[in-house]
Amino acid sequence: MSVKIVDLTLRDGHQSLFATRMRTRDMLPILEIFDNAGIYSFEVWGGATFDVAHRFLNENPWERLREIRKRVKNTQLQMLLRGQNLVGYRHYPDDVVEKFVKKTIENGLDIFRIFDALNDVRNLETAIKSAKKYSANHIQGSICYTISPVHTIEKYVEIANELAELEVDSICVKDMAGLLSPKMAYELVRALKKEVGLPVNVHSHYTSGMASMSLLKAVEAGADMVDTCMSPISMGTSHPPTESVVYALSELGYDTGVDLDILLEVREYFVKIREKYAGYLNPLSTIPDTRVLVYQIPGGMFSNMISQLQEQNALDKLDEVLKEVPKVREDLGYVPLVTPTSQIVGVQAVINVLTGERYKVVTKETKDLVKGMYGRTPAPISEEIKRKVLGDEEPITVRPADLLEPEFEKRKKELEEMGLEVSEEEVLIYCLFPQTGLKFLKGEIKEESFPSTAGEVSGEFEVEIDGKKYKVSVNPV
Ligand code: CO
Repeated sequence: MSVKIVDLTLRDGHQSLFATRMRTRDMLPILEIFDNAGIYSFEVWGGATFDVAHRFLNENPWERLREIRKRVKNTQLQMLLRGQNLVGYRHYPDDVVEKFVKKTIENGLDIFRIFDALNDVRNLETAIKSAKKYSANHIQGSICYTISPVHTIEKYVEIANELAELEVDSICVKDMAGLLSPKMAYELVRALKKEVGLPVNVHSHYTSGMASMSLLKAVEAGADMVDTCMSPISMGTSHPPTESVVYALSELGYDTGVDLDILLEVREYFVKIREKYAGYLNPLSTIPDTRVLVYQIPGGMFSNMISQLQEQNALDKLDEVLKEVPKVREDLGYVPLVTPTSQIVGVQAVINVLTGERYKVVTKETKDLVKGMYGRTPAPISEEIKRKVLGDEEPITVRPADLLEPEFEKRKKELEEMGLEVSEEEVLIYCLFPQTGLKFLKGEIKEESFPSTAGEVSGEFEVEIDGKKYKVSVNPV
């Protein structure tokens, strides 16, 4: 029996522990050695890296991909793609999605892991079809794992079957919050293998302390691929250590094809990187946060709610808010708590408690979610909540991106009119991030300096979408 190892150190690893700040120059020197270790695939791109690279590090994200590709010959390269949101925070029109996927393949990417925060498969369709059209090596459709009365094994199998209909090559169980228990991992993987028949990849964050146990049970149930990070960038909000998983699986008779001696050399390198990036590391993200097991609230969301309450001098209301969160989540169709829905639910719960009347005040984001602007919620939203939140407005029933006009050519023309001569890849930086992308293309961004105090840089920052400022988080995804 063989199990493939997917190493996430260069994407999810540093996104989870170093606020996504690892510089390309700190990745390149180890790649040629790492490439010989027998890892199936390196996740090196996507998620928050595209945004953070140009916004804070003055790095061209495309250049990072090309430089990595030059040095990695044996191992596949993969990225995390947020469906119709690509690597940003809103739905982009189909022409931008198609162009982005095409350019990503041209720049050397092999495997697309695609997800949607609501598990609305319509939001994955254009990305999957584009990846097929331009002959990506491998397309992996993801299921965001969460716990709710409507998120049954049958429901996950149903979503996986919808993905299979779009002819994905494998299914990823994506456990962003570390909620996947060993028992569920076993039962879910067994059901997916039996009912869907595609290879299964399990992705579980160490947040609650269960991930190693869950990966092992997943492998026992037939998982084909598991996600890990090199030990110096593992555990905490990151993932189980690559070396330990390889050792444990080999001893149990699973062939991973990975050479532990090479990994130890790679480890030496990342020990130094961890020291270098210590300023980015919040000590709390290195230990398990078992609150998630009780409240089923991801750690990042917990801290957000506490700081919101502190600002309002209402920390004594925390208990009430913690009781309100599951109610709001139920009202909003049991959305998985992952960016951006975790913020939407958290903020609305705080408002409901502080105003003393539920949905007397609603945020624009709550309204958009109820209106269907993010996609279809896992469970339908009741008429009562719809009326309270939307008033007379009617929700949409189409796929949100159906309402968007093409953008690529328009953006390209805007850049030309500004006298900026850029490649199609660079036009995409501007399409995705009109404010910071433009600054970057004009050469107006400076690389931030390394923080001197641990935890000084948080995983949160403000982005501007259509003139309005939003707080986003680069917390584990
Ligand atoms: Co992740």
